[in-house]
Parts: sequence; C-alpha cells; structure tokens
Amino acid sequence: MRHPIARLRSLRSVELRTSAVAESADFYANVWGLRLVDGDAGGAWLRGTGDQHHALQLTHAERNGLGRISFAVGTPREIDEAARRLAQHGIVPLSGPGPTGNVGAGYGLQFADLEGRVIELVAETLAVPKIGGDDAVPVGVTHVVLNTVDIDAAVRFYEDVLGMRVSDWSEHQMAFLRCNSDHHSIAFNQSGWASVNHVAYEMPTVDHFMRGIGRLRHHGITPLWGPGKHGPGDNTFSYFADPAGLVCEYTSGIAQIVEDQWLCRVWRRVPELSDLWGTAGPPSQRVREHMAGIPDAGAFDRPGSTIEQGALS
Ligand SMILES: [Fe+2]
Repeated sequence: MRHPIARLRSLRSVELRTSAVAESADFYANVWGLRLVDGDAGGAWLRGTGDQHHALQLTHAERNGLGRISFAVGTPREIDEAARRLAQHGIVPLSGPGPTGNVGAGYGLQFADLEGRVIELVAETLAVPKIGGDDAVPVGVTHVVLNTVDIDAAVRFYEDVLGMRVSDWSEHQMAFLRCNSDHHSIAFNQSGWASVNHVAYEMPTVDHFMRGIGRLRHHGITPLWGPGKHGPGDNTFSYFADPAGLVCEYTSGIAQIVEDQWLCRVWRRVPELSDLWGTAGPPSQRVREHMAGIPDAGAFDRPGSTIEQGALS
C-alpha cells in the first residue's frame, strides 16, 4: 500500500522562471500590489499581506517557465516521513530532506512530477506578521493552473503522491484539486504541452478585487479576460499578462469545501457556466495564447539535471 507522502496544509508560494526578471519584479511590486522582500540581479522575492514570507519568487531564465510550487507541511518530521514515502513511490528527491537554504528558510524537500515540474514541501519557514490596511492588494498566491499533455496521469499523480482531492472537473478539459478547504489550489488543463497556464492571487473581497482591477486600469493595464465569475470554484476572475507574458489573475471568493459533504461534479463547458455574471464573454485568442505559454520541460531540462524524462514511475 502506497500512501500520499504528506498532508499538505496550503499552497505557500510559486517560483516563476522569467525572461524579464527586472521588469516583472517592478510590475509585481509597483503595480500588482505585492511587496519586494529580497532581490538581486538573478531574482526577486515578493510577499502579499498574508503571513507567508513570500508568495512569489522570480528567477532569471532564458525562457519563461515554472521554477517550483511550494506547499506548506506541518513539521520537519513530516518532511522526513515524506522522503521515506517518496521512495515507496519510486521517486528520488531532487534535494532534501533538510534545510532548504532558500530565502525564507525552512526545512523541506523537492522532487519532480511526471512532467518535470518541481514540487517543494516545506515546513518551519520564517514567520512574518500580516500586513494590515484595506489596500486592494493580494493576500498571497491561492492557486496555480498547469497545462499538461495527460490530464488523467497528472491528476492520478497529485492524488496518489500528494494526497490532493479532485473538487470538480470541467468536462475532460480541466481538473480542480484541493489540499485544504479551498476548492482548488492546483488545476490541470489538458493541452499540447506542459507549461504554466496562470498563477492566481487572492483578494480579500470582491470590493478589493474590483479596486485592484481599477488600480491596474490607472496604470494603463486592462484585463486579458474578465472581470467575471467562474462556475467551478465560484471565484471571481480577472486575468492579466505580466511583462514576460506570463498570466496572473486576481481572484476572490473561492468556494469553501466541507470535506465529507462535497460531491465532485463534471461541469459542462458552456458560456453561462464559465462566466456566471455574463460580464467576461468568451476567452479571446490572445488570452488563450498567453495561457498556453511555451513548452516547459522543467527539471528535465535544467543545467546539471541528473534526471531524465520518463525516468520516474
Ligand atoms: Fe485561476
């Protein structure tokens, strides 16, 4: 019997590899509403108003891609246990278990999923106080949508290895997975290649969400798609492109799941369910192209990588 490797508490942060690190750091800090907590020529770390040390890490790269997805786990002991269980799944960690050496500290481990995405489990990161105030800025990162060439294999891996649960499907095109009461922290989208579809940032209320869109408008930035409200997850959405062309989303009001009462359903992909308010209209070709991104082999294509595509079971 193979068990999930850990109980994930929450999505903690996302690292994006970006071809425009300086411009993107300026955008996320001075327009999007995050705060710069650390940075150098090769990267930047930015936080929201929540209690995570950072929500977004930007790392310089030749091509856009995912750096890693970090999930919070309760204790270092659970990290050590996760390493033992990873072995039962036939997966060799890329690093750890041990002190991460990251900005924000922590004790963690990293491994690659079936398509080379780097997953990090981390405990005991630096605690930071929440930032007060009523500004229309993100609390933190709340979900990541990932393009995959095999949605069934991806879902199975995140269920079996990471213990995530499917909240809903959007036909056989998208799957929404949760690790806590939020309807989804990860979603997969069936696509022609693996890549980041978008990263979503939580706004506390619909009012903050709309005021955030208004602030971007004053900066001359209009949504690629939205504002609107999704059927699956019941959350508001407004999608934008960052300076490197990666898609970022403001969202609010994600559905809260009661674990033993939720029934997964398959949503039809029709306009009245994709756009509950009828304000967004269908996604344009332009937003589809940004969300498709470019093929990203992740850990399978990094300098010094010792693992090869297909080497994992
Ligand atoms: Fe989203």
